[in-house]
Amino acid sequence: MVLCGTKNGSSMVSLEEPFEAPLFLRVVWTILVVAQCYFSEENHTEESNMHPPTVVLAIIARNAAHSLPYYLGALERLNYPKERISIWAATDHNIDNTTAILREWLTVMQTQYHYIEWRPLDKPTSYVGEPGPKHWTNGRYEYVMKLKQAALNFAKKHWADYILYSDTDNILTNPDTLHLLMAENKSVIAPMLDSQSAYSNYWCGITPQGYYRRTAEYFPTKQRQRLGCYPVPMVHSTILLDLRKEGTKKVSFHPPHKDYSWPFDDIIVFAFSCRISEVQMFLCNKERYGYLNVPRSAPESLSRICVLTEVISPTVHGPPMHLSRYVHVPPKQSDLMGFDEIYLINLRRRPDRRDRMLWSLYELEIDAKVVDAVDGAALNSSDIKILGVNLLPGYYDPFSGRTLTKGEVGCFLSHYYIWKEMVDMQLDKVLVFEDDVHFQANFKRRLMRLMEEVEQVELDWDIIYLGRKKVNPEEEVAVENVRNLVYADYSYWTLSYTISLQGAQKLLNAEPISKMLPVDEFLPIMYDKHPNEDYKSHFPNRNLMAYSTHPLLVQPCHHAGDPEWVSDTETSTLWDDDNVRTDWRGSHKTLKGSQPPAGLQRATYKDEL
Ligand SMILES: *[C@@H]1O[C@H](CO)[C@@H](O)[C@H](O)[C@H]1NC(C)=O
Ligand SMILES: *[C@@H]1O[C@H](CO)[C@@H](O)[C@H](O)[C@H]1NC(C)=O
Ligand SMILES: *[C@@H]1O[C@H](CO)[C@@H](O)[C@H](O)[C@H]1NC(C)=O
Ligand SMILES: *[C@@H]1O[C@H](CO)[C@@H](O)[C@H](O)[C@H]1NC(C)=O
Repeated sequence: MVLCGTKNGSSMVSLEEPFEAPLFLRVVWTILVVAQCYFSEENHTEESNMHPPTVVLAIIARNAAHSLPYYLGALERLNYPKERISIWAATDHNIDNTTAILREWLTVMQTQYHYIEWRPLDKPTSYVGEPGPKHWTNGRYEYVMKLKQAALNFAKKHWADYILYSDTDNILTNPDTLHLLMAENKSVIAPMLDSQSAYSNYWCGITPQGYYRRTAEYFPTKQRQRLGCYPVPMVHSTILLDLRKEGTKKVSFHPPHKDYSWPFDDIIVFAFSCRISEVQMFLCNKERYGYLNVPRSAPESLSRICVLTEVISPTVHGPPMHLSRYVHVPPKQSDLMGFDEIYLINLRRRPDRRDRMLWSLYELEIDAKVVDAVDGAALNSSDIKILGVNLLPGYYDPFSGRTLTKGEVGCFLSHYYIWKEMVDMQLDKVLVFEDDVHFQANFKRRLMRLMEEVEQVELDWDIIYLGRKKVNPEEEVAVENVRNLVYADYSYWTLSYTISLQGAQKLLNAEPISKMLPVDEFLPIMYDKHPNEDYKSHFPNRNLMAYSTHPLLVQPCHHAGDPEWVSDTETSTLWDDDNVRTDWRGSHKTLKGSQPPAGLQRATYKDEL
């Protein structure tokens, strides 16, 4: 090799040249040789281990301030020697703090990674003709292609074995992702990333014009009914290229191939390049690798994704997301959104749900007070009698035929004590959450806007549902002059609602403890939309003014049918008999595929999503 010397070898020591060592050296030499031979008979030194392949990690960030702490947190936790990784990082056209965050992280990490290439571009902050950062102009596509190509050129020039591209809204929570992908020995491979929507980072079909084509394999793959590594026409967002393979020599991001006529989009240009170069893309879903599409816009929409909010209970949806240890994350400014109090009802023995909800609320900057739910399962029938609880005469669950469960008693009392506290403390309006909700996008902003409008038109209200199961959605009428508000018809569930002092007072005045039925049946009775006349006859003043947001602002995180789904209210024993066990599967509110009683036709929960 050139590094060893000049071609004619004149300056090199020839290995054949006789070398006369002084005598004392020769003696030492002999001893060494003898000793070595002696020991090598019983022992020899093993070959040392191989270094793992070298990797270039390409980071291309734009307006990613909210997801970067999680993105970088996942990268720094990758279970791969950092001295075998070089980072190629670029950022441009930012209107947020992306550049500062990346710089801060790279500054700390440069001592750990093999090498860091840093390409920040402060100005301009937008592309020509771009209405907003969510918009993709051709100029932007082209720029992204050029960046990806520059990273690829860098990796090739430095003889990297692999290059990993990962978008900044992809959180690779599985620390073994790199090893797992490398073990598949493919030229271009992507880990399937989970998202709450139908969207993922692969296509199973492509049209002759280069557009997405729906195929029968897509959903079974996304939902992991088929597991493996599959050849697909498109992978994007997070992809690993093995640069040692012949095929990847030819692939490129920019400029597009001369025969290129498909849409001008960086991922399609690259898929085309792979196709022309006869490089097959692969998608792998054998494991959970991480999450996709952590929204770029509002920080609060992070917590709208259930899987992301499962941080504290990784058993539910896969590995947790962690913040980077090396970037400063500004403290959140939580508030009460104009309410006098915000309650989170949580069963003490479900800390997983409490932690998940507190995490979501923290992300949303909502300050909530945790109230310990009354644990129905811990009550025996005599405790319940002592509390003054009595069943509404004739109440039974129309599906299971059973009466009230202890869980339902506990749930009722939990809500009841909040209404009581409101009245005792004369709180004008409060917000209540149960602990298994996930938030729709922009939850906080939407709720605050709604409450402002309600105030402006001086709407007289007692309760506004934010999350429930609509029984007759088609019969609900919009409220005039308030956007996204309807008069509530018969509903199930009490996931979340706001309640006014006047509303709480009405509910207490009805004295429901002595004629109890599930709380989500009690409320519709009180606003006079319950179909059962017998139940209603026990509550003469059914004048609760009940509304609901439309669309709903929260949904249940889990629902019946999920393997992880366990309802605390419906897995217990009967309220007045400690020996009769009940099961959530017996409940009409959660049962899937059951026949509702005549007159109670409704869509399944999934249809509402
Ligand atoms: C051979 O090497 C091993 C590991 O280095 C060591 O534990 C062992 O004692 C050696 N045996 C002899 C005979 O030197
Ligand atoms: C931007 O990020 C840097 C580094 O994390 C931090 O020091 C700075 O306070 C942030 N600025 C804003 C406006 O958030
Ligand atoms: C990886 O794939 C190449 C072909 O691209 C093959 O030659 C090689 O043996 C494979 N390596 C392993 C470890 O399977
Ligand atoms: C019910 O539980 C209480 C303690 O909470 C206990 O004192 C009482 O003996 C129990 N009654 C029955 C019938 O088990």
